[in-house]
Amino acid sequence: MKPCLGIFDSGLGGFTVLSQVLARYGPVSCVYLADTARVPYGEKKSSEIRKIAKEVVQWLSDQNISAVLIACNTTNSLALDVVENVSRVPVFGLIEAAGRMVKENRVGVLATPATTASNAYRKMILSFRPGTQVFEQPCPEFVPLIEGGKLCRDELRICALKYLKPLLEAEVESIIYGCSHYPLLETILREILPEDVRLVDPAIGMASQLDGILGIPKCSVMTRDLLSNTRICVTSDPSGFASRAKALMGECPDIEVVSLTSQACFF
Ligand code: DGL
Repeated sequence: MKPCLGIFDSGLGGFTVLSQVLARYGPVSCVYLADTARVPYGEKKSSEIRKIAKEVVQWLSDQNISAVLIACNTTNSLALDVVENVSRVPVFGLIEAAGRMVKENRVGVLATPATTASNAYRKMILSFRPGTQVFEQPCPEFVPLIEGGKLCRDELRICALKYLKPLLEAEVESIIYGCSHYPLLETILREILPEDVRLVDPAIGMASQLDGILGIPKCSVMTRDLLSNTRICVTSDPSGFASRAKALMGECPDIEVVSLTSQACFF
């Protein structure tokens, strides 16, 4: 049987992870779940994020998957143990992947308020490189703006200036995308940042850890065909999600609406 990856996020952010996986391995089989009914996760309480993680992984586990990719840093930082306990297949997280990618001594992390409050990034980076100075910056407005389809708006730039200021003052040498939505802001961030500040996408590290499951990398460019073996599922608003996904990726396959609980679900 061909391997199938189960990838989840609260919304569009996980597409940045999916893109890295498909770019490395070609059109492998994936089930992508966006929990659009509950996006954003980043300002929810830890107990809620843990409860949601359990439901999401129980659902994914019923989809014949070979591995779970936590394409959501908020879940990774607050509910990794829940995901690992519920999953019957190997689990891959973005935060450990990021920890392995850090080379600098002064590192910034842009993330959701829940992720920064957990200090998961600081702990992981220090476990790989003790003595690293880690500056974690919560960015509460980014995900609601991205999910609201405002990718090109001035509002995003104003927020980016505000969130990057403390990191620039701290003279960071690299900045980690500590939320999977943020690689979508690369152009805006790059315009503001000095050239020598490295932007680190943990999804690149995570994708490189999948060779054991997916075999030899194929290094494809992102094209429409790459999504041909991806099933995209949402928990609400399929048409809104489809149009936002299309704006981001140029193409979006059919979208299924699923219920994560056993009750029937009507939209
Ligand atoms: N993209 C997710 C993350 O990496 C969740 C963002 C959110 O829903 O607030 O944290």
